[in-house]
Amino acid sequence: MMTKLLIIGAGRMAEAVISGLVNKKNSTIQCDDIMVGNKSDKERLHYLKNTYSVKITTDWETEIVHSDVLLIASPPETHETMASIIKDKISGQLVITVAAGIDPSYLEKRLVPGTPVCWIMPNTAAQLGQSMSIYTCGQNVSSEHRTIIDMILSSIGEAEELSEQQVHDLTAITGSAPAFFYTFVQALETAAQDYGISKGQARNLVIKMVRGSVTMLENGGEPEELIAQVASPGGSTAKGLEVLEESHFKRILLESVKATNKHARSQGDKV
Ligand SMILES: NC(=O)c1ccc[n+]([C@@H]2O[C@H](COP(=O)([O-])OP(=O)(O)OC[C@H]3O[C@@H](n4cnc5c(N)ncnc54)[C@H](OP(=O)(O)O)[C@@H]3O)[C@@H](O)[C@H]2O)c1
Repeated sequence: MMTKLLIIGAGRMAEAVISGLVNKKNSTIQCDDIMVGNKSDKERLHYLKNTYSVKITTDWETEIVHSDVLLIASPPETHETMASIIKDKISGQLVITVAAGIDPSYLEKRLVPGTPVCWIMPNTAAQLGQSMSIYTCGQNVSSEHRTIIDMILSSIGEAEELSEQQVHDLTAITGSAPAFFYTFVQALETAAQDYGISKGQARNLVIKMVRGSVTMLENGGEPEELIAQVASPGGSTAKGLEVLEESHFKRILLESVKATNKHARSQGDKV
């Protein structure tokens, strides 16, 4: 099956998807069948062409009729205008967005009745084929469309299909929490460097600690039990945990999740 994919937006997320598809063996979307367009940054388009051998366009609107699938990878606030442009040009193409807050209902409301739509929420590890993506499909998505959606998703990592509401609720956890996690890493690296070691040493120590901890979890360890293994009652780690508790560490994280989701949701609510 040859599928012509038009990617609208040429930023980080577009590159992650392109790189995943281009590097994936046996992909039904061949390199020649990917076309990328953006608003104005021609240099960026040439970089993508030279790096991944994709086609580029400075006029993505006229390419819509020649495409089977449209993947919108531009900011949420561009979707209102984009939907009005796409609406007049599509005839049955599958429309996918990766934008925070732009759910299938939003797209279905603005596109031609019957248009198959899908909302994918990846994260930046997509560029390494390691995204944990969540996604949800609109009411007109067929099994053939699902094959294409699965192929795109599997090229950037793993994915779980959820309801529209769940994708809204979990956007912060899979899409944004990597930034929370890197903040945690940054703080530990700074603490390590304060004790006189180099940035490189600090990075190595923290990464290896994180990797070991993730492996413990992947091996089935429950956080509570793993915490107990590290922190014996009245011991040094318990003292550190006490400070996290007093500083409401978990509550702060929950507040960050809520603030992220609230903002993402408001993107889709703007009309
Ligand atoms: N980054 C993440 O971790 C992440 C995670 C999940 C979802 N997302 C979603 O992915 C989308 C893109 O994010 P990103 O991080 O890739 O952003 P980005 O690097 O800033 O790229 C945005 C791209 O959109 C293009 N664009 C803007 N307005 C346009 C228009 N009117 N027509 C065509 N192209 C237009 C820009 O082109 P110009 O440079 O020419 O303006 C640029 O290529 C967003 O909706 C975001 O919510 C991102």
